[in-house]
Amino acid sequence: MPEMNSHVPQHVAIIMDGNGRWASERGLPRREGHRAGAESVREVVETCKELGIKFLTLYAFSSENWNRPRTEIKALMSLLKGFLRRKTPEMQKQGVRLHAIGRLEELPDDCRAELEKAIEHTSSNTDLDLVLALSYGAREEIVDACRQLAREAVTGDLDPESIDNDAITQRLYTAGIPDPDLLIRTSGECRISNFLLWQISYAEIVITRKYWPDFREADLHQAIAEYARRHRRFGAI
Ligand code: FPP
Repeated sequence: MPEMNSHVPQHVAIIMDGNGRWASERGLPRREGHRAGAESVREVVETCKELGIKFLTLYAFSSENWNRPRTEIKALMSLLKGFLRRKTPEMQKQGVRLHAIGRLEELPDDCRAELEKAIEHTSSNTDLDLVLALSYGAREEIVDACRQLAREAVTGDLDPESIDNDAITQRLYTAGIPDPDLLIRTSGECRISNFLLWQISYAEIVITRKYWPDFREADLHQAIAEYARRHRRFGAI
């Protein structure tokens, strides 16, 4: 287990991939892969807390995931709703504060209501900030930030010449959340898939072959150990 020191990242972001393949390989319907994946979410949240990680961002549903069959979307939304309803007391007990990023207005009403309730209930917790990316796409996030900047420029509240990195950062869904130090992707694919494009500029990337439902406490420890071995230079020599 890595030591609790500066080698522990402050913010870990995860592309949770491979639920479907995990299920297919067992002759199970895809939704069973998502269900098992929700168990990994629970375990990884707990482990982050134990390690002293302050922010965990999970790619739970992408803008592109709306193109999946209706039955799978329904299963994912219902899993998310159940997870929020059942786990809010546990998050409360563990000092986890929930956030959500994405075009949340596109979520079904019942799901959004459950999400807002969980966010509100956990809003004064300070141990771990858990950020769920839902109906999230990084390009869409940047488009929304540009629209906001344009609105402010049109009304004269913003001088276009004053737009800098910070001005954009502050208008992303993640405003106020530090950039991820470590990005993990499961299931072996070497892609970013429209996740946090702006925010991962300097993140270390760790890709593991394990499918998300098989990614548990020991695997997170391993990813953190890999992160700790790397020498982070931020473009300097
Ligand atoms: C990717 O696997 C995973 C998803 C699209 C959804 C992630 C959702 C969960 C882990 C469960 C619920 C989440 C929470 C926060 C409770 P895939 O379906 O793309 O797998 P494949 O690439 O093998 O088909």
